[in-house]
Amino acid sequence: MKIKVAVLTSGGDAPGMNAAIRSVIRAGLMYNFEMYAIYEGFRGIYEDKIVKANRSTVSEILMRGGTILKTARFPEFRQEEVLMKAADQLKKHKITHLVVIGGDGTYRGAYALSRYGIKVIGIPATIDNDVMGTEQTIGFDTALNTITEAVDKLRDTSSSHHRCSIIEVMGNRCGDLALYAGTACGVDLIISPEHRPTESEIIETLKNINLTHARHALVIVSEKQFDDLGAFKDKIVLETGFDTKVEVLGRIQRGGSPTAADRVLAARFGIHAIELIANNVDNGRLSSTPINETARSLNPNLTELINVIDKLK
Ligand code: F6P
Repeated sequence: MKIKVAVLTSGGDAPGMNAAIRSVIRAGLMYNFEMYAIYEGFRGIYEDKIVKANRSTVSEILMRGGTILKTARFPEFRQEEVLMKAADQLKKHKITHLVVIGGDGTYRGAYALSRYGIKVIGIPATIDNDVMGTEQTIGFDTALNTITEAVDKLRDTSSSHHRCSIIEVMGNRCGDLALYAGTACGVDLIISPEHRPTESEIIETLKNINLTHARHALVIVSEKQFDDLGAFKDKIVLETGFDTKVEVLGRIQRGGSPTAADRVLAARFGIHAIELIANNVDNGRLSSTPINETARSLNPNLTELINVIDKLK
């Protein structure tokens, strides 16, 4: 009997998810598995939105942003009776293996489901880059490039008007987007969970910049760093005299066609997930981490990046 494998996307969408879906389904078919697509994440398992997939299900999607399988936040998936029913739905279809594509919340759901006898493999895809066990998640590179393009544009107008632009980027509780984008754009200040100048240091730096001939400043701040970023902006205006604007990049960071790097990463992860099922071993250059060990801790690369930022001050 053929091995039946299903794939879903969950959590916030990320560019490159479609490339990962394509890779999982096409690699699975090559291994002669019966492949299934689940629509709307974990809720789709519970509501039985499970459809048999073939090669053409994933034609022409490689370059598209978002996820053709749709995604959903489904907090009910923490409840044991919901988990049990979801596992039963999969067993009804005789699906024994599930590949989930998403970020840290997705991994928690995956681990919970694995306790009900489903073999689950996670592919890390989130713009936040906050999944432990991988240096880079699918979608991070594309979002970083989107932010870089936006900040470069803001530099033009900020310098023309002698302004200070405070640009808020996503990342949930992880500062990778802020730190990498800040480095890529050579901004004046980066404020992230891992690199957090004090309020007085921020004011002092901006005051000094406002006194120089440059008289414009770029500040990148990770989301969730200030209870009220608008109020902090008002304080900057008051104490530095800088004409200051807040720009929240928001969900634009999650859209767009994935970069080549994200597409390649997605292709490699998809194949690796299927090979793990086929071989039940980990012998590739990509490595795997048990799903329950994927809670976020500081990415070792960040320590080096923060040193770079400090040296370029
Ligand atoms: O996890 C991806 C992410 O974009 C985070 O950076 C952000 O905090 C969150 O999702 C926003 O989620 P939603 O679009 O559901 O509000």
